[in-house]
Amino acid sequence: MILAKRVSQIAPSATLDITSKAKRMAKEGIDVVSFGAGEPDFDTPAHIKAQAIKAIHDGFTKYTPSSGTVELREAISRKFKADNGLDYKTSQIVVSGGAKHSLNNVFQAICEGGDEVIIPAPYWLSYPEMVRMAEGIPVYVETRPENNFKVTEKDLAAKITKKTKIFILNSPSNPTGCVYSLDELKVIAKLAAKHKFFVVSDEIYEKLIYGNKKHISIASLGKDIFDLTITVNGVSKSYSMTGWRIGYAAGPAEVMEAISNLQSHAASNPTSISQQATLAALTESQQCVEEMRVEFEKRRDLMVARIGKMKNISCVNPEGAFYVFCDISKLRMKAVEVATKLLDEAKVAVVPGEPFGAPSYIRLSFATSREKIEKGLNRIDEWASKHG
Ligand SMILES: Cc1ncc(COP(=O)(O)O)c(C=O)c1O
Repeated sequence: MILAKRVSQIAPSATLDITSKAKRMAKEGIDVVSFGAGEPDFDTPAHIKAQAIKAIHDGFTKYTPSSGTVELREAISRKFKADNGLDYKTSQIVVSGGAKHSLNNVFQAICEGGDEVIIPAPYWLSYPEMVRMAEGIPVYVETRPENNFKVTEKDLAAKITKKTKIFILNSPSNPTGCVYSLDELKVIAKLAAKHKFFVVSDEIYEKLIYGNKKHISIASLGKDIFDLTITVNGVSKSYSMTGWRIGYAAGPAEVMEAISNLQSHAASNPTSISQQATLAALTESQQCVEEMRVEFEKRRDLMVARIGKMKNISCVNPEGAFYVFCDISKLRMKAVEVATKLLDEAKVAVVPGEPFGAPSYIRLSFATSREKIEKGLNRIDEWASKHG
């Protein structure tokens, strides 16, 4: 075999076919409405761009410390304190090339042959692949729409074994939009402390939260869980900076030192210019974040209300992130088939649920204009009413 086992088992992205076909169709002049976006459709705020341009002019274009500049890690440390009530020293923070890079570093650092990693399903599709790349075993715990797709104590407890090393928490969640409450987090924290497993808390959608919901970092619930949690966050979603590639992780000193060493050999430092832009994002006015959040909330309301009127498609109201996860079981087709037909017949691109571990769901992103949302949902409704 030419390829290493480690990579030969990685699943190709099941969503790629549909998104590349949708792009091809749009290029050919076909009026396709896409609900596929995994990134905000807003431009990166001007003051953040300006800081990056300044960094280039100032010659801030060389290697930085591999964990990120001290100034940036100090700013992240202050952010953790102010927003999340977390006391991380700068030596406990590593800045990386996006939250995805941070997560991969975490699994590489703490997961090894045969370790079990519990992942609530539906899940963000990269988690199982990252776990497998770290030679871990993904163990899925099913969640249900009645619980807003959040794990229950009973279901989680049933999956814990002596080999459980990590529980992955993603609140707000991609793809379901669920947000864990304080009481729900306490249950996870209690089980983690009792059975001594790590919690990897992916908080990348922290700022995109709606209604009266509040984001709570599980690591803030006490010393025991603080010492067992690696908190991951970044600027991609909150500041519309997906292309800048900056994410960060914070956790127990021993783990973070290992991650810093790993990153120093694998990638050196995240881009110096993007680090300066991130410094501006975190330290200057947060008005831009709120403006984007407010617009996302309007779109969510529009989308959920319109889907509520559909006969064959339903959804749970997402409390965070920018996706509506739609139940298509009444159509009696696999999600990939629904997505393929929606594109071919109704000219609407959606993401099928299979790669998220949910074959009777499709994911619709509301990182697109309200006008497109209305047009796309009308097309979906018309198409779906002829099926099922
Ligand atoms: C749940 C979740 N975590 C992490 C990421 C990765 O973010 P980044 O662009 O900072 O790597 C994404 C991006 O889609 C995501 O949905």
